[in-house]
Amino acid sequence: MDKILVHGGRPLSGSVRISGSKNSALPILAASLLTRDRCVIHCVPDLSDIHYMLQILSHLGAHVERASGTVIIQAEKISTVAPYEIVRKMRASVCVLGPLLGRHREAKVSLPGGCVIGDRPIDLHLRGFRALNAACRVEAGDVKVFADELRGSTVDLEGKQGPTVLGTDNVMMAATLAEGVTVIEGAAAEPEVVDLAHFLIKMGAKIEGAGTRRITIEGVKELHGAEHSVIPDRIEAGTFLVAAALAGTEVTLRRVNSDHLKAVLNSLTDAGFRMDVQRDQITVHGNGSPRPLELITEPYPGFPTDMQAQMCALLSRANGVSRATETVFPQRFMHVSELKRMGADIELDGATAIIRGPSQLSGAPVMASDLRASAALVLAGLVANGLTEVNRVYHIDRGYESIDEKLAGLGAHIERVKDRSH
Ligand code: UD1
Repeated sequence: MDKILVHGGRPLSGSVRISGSKNSALPILAASLLTRDRCVIHCVPDLSDIHYMLQILSHLGAHVERASGTVIIQAEKISTVAPYEIVRKMRASVCVLGPLLGRHREAKVSLPGGCVIGDRPIDLHLRGFRALNAACRVEAGDVKVFADELRGSTVDLEGKQGPTVLGTDNVMMAATLAEGVTVIEGAAAEPEVVDLAHFLIKMGAKIEGAGTRRITIEGVKELHGAEHSVIPDRIEAGTFLVAAALAGTEVTLRRVNSDHLKAVLNSLTDAGFRMDVQRDQITVHGNGSPRPLELITEPYPGFPTDMQAQMCALLSRANGVSRATETVFPQRFMHVSELKRMGADIELDGATAIIRGPSQLSGAPVMASDLRASAALVLAGLVANGLTEVNRVYHIDRGYESIDEKLAGLGAHIERVKDRSH
């Protein structure tokens, strides 16, 4: 398994280009199953999660071509069964259910397992499909959904933990080809849901309200091919903002959408960082010594759960006591024990991390446990004394395009050690 080695203490400066959004690209690629026509998708990041999705689409029978950031998909004739061997690698594979149900009125997809950030059920997805008149069964590790007729209706997708992003995507995709009107109440309002809705509208879908808590979809008979560019990745951008705040002198992020980053920008401003914010570009003036913060993760437009781990790394350097509370994934604190091994003073109280700073971090061998936790460890390594060795970096490769090369481009002393054992 590859490792990333970070030698701490090098200041970051210069500029970095943010890639297309992973969480937008995944459902958009799946949505191309809704038509027999060719779909052309630009700004698709080169990540292992994207490779898994393209493998699933190919397995289902779609013709997939990829040239740098552009993916061309034609799903002329497809099957409706996605088996465990290819689905197990990525939880987001569940988002082929909606398009398959919409187009063929049936789908059988292996259930994604839990993951280290907690139990990740799909009950809300199924609630939405049932509201569209589909039957749903979980048998032998597979989820099977089928309907003689898909009929629009009103469904509330809000769960105990708030709205569901992929659940909203799934039901919205199925509803584009249902009879009549579907209203999703309690819909997720994340920019990635809006990006998917824009793509579906280009394909001929009739959708209103994406980006609000109520989405209305009027079913159409069929969808056609479309061309689309995926939005910039707000979590990759947020991660580089934190890297720059922690270890930067002056760092500029290019190809961002600052409107999508308001909660993160507000927190960094509260922490005392100066930023020049333009619509598609942000310059951060780092100083490495933030003020302590009280953070609460919430659905969009609140502070994103996908930025919580990185902020814990930043706040370990703050002068005083900070708190980071998870409301979206209450168990998402796998990074805490590894950050503590690097010298951070963090105590967990239920779904709140209490971070006492400032700590001088020291490099250590650490283990990446999930995607964003691994990013937090790399960021901590940038300001730690000595060498941080981040193991199991396949987690980071799921969601960050060339993070080592991008940080090296900003002046970090970072290298990837390839595993040559197989
Ligand atoms: C997506 C993002 C992920 C992000 C998360 C929350 C993708 C590929 N992934 O994940 O990076 O951290 O949104 O912003 O876009 N829940 C249920 N039942 C369900 C579905 C979800 O109880 O049927 C719960 C989850 O356990 C969690 C909360 O709802 O506590 C939000 O999860 P959800 O928005 O569905 O996350 P994903 O869409 O899987």
